[in-house]
Amino acid sequence: MWFQQIIREETGCATYLVGSSKTGECLVFDPLWDIEPYLEFALKKSARITHVVDSHSHADHVSGARRLVQSTGARLFLPRRIEAQYEAHRLEDGEKLRLGDVEAEVLPMPGHRPEQINLLIRDLSRGPEPWCLLTADFLMVGDIARSDLAQDGRQGAAILFSQSIPRLRALPDFVEVYPGHLAGST
Ligand SMILES: [Fe+2]
Repeated sequence: MWFQQIIREETGCATYLVGSSKTGECLVFDPLWDIEPYLEFALKKSARITHVVDSHSHADHVSGARRLVQSTGARLFLPRRIEAQYEAHRLEDGEKLRLGDVEAEVLPMPGHRPEQINLLIRDLSRGPEPWCLLTADFLMVGDIARSDLAQDGRQGAAILFSQSIPRLRALPDFVEVYPGHLAGST
């Protein structure tokens, strides 16, 4: 398995590529509008972008997911609860995507957005334990998600603390956490 973080400095958005060294397949998580960095990195790794996942409806940037799908022929994956009219595979809670030895498990993490999902990544060539969690905007560096964008802030915070944070805390301590935003962003 290989793993790459791609950051857009202007907005502090952090996005990710996860690839299988075995099959050459690659998943892109929360791609930004400028898809060139993903295409370039996949080329560098001699990988095919086969899976494109948007974790939620983004308020701070325009998703590049559909551009990336058009350009690569990859399959588009969206959370089951997302309000989107376009064609995509809707991910169920607990669903597992498989790319060679890489497994990405869908964890619902509501509170920022009701449809928000995270991906729990395993490298099955190494063992069955999870390696890292892609949190998108559920967790940021030094902060948690804004709970007031999609609903009343207090209500959103109650959802975060009653559903998402216990799900995070149930993971083993060694799981690495990769957020969707750096500190000091918009
Ligand atoms: Fe967001």
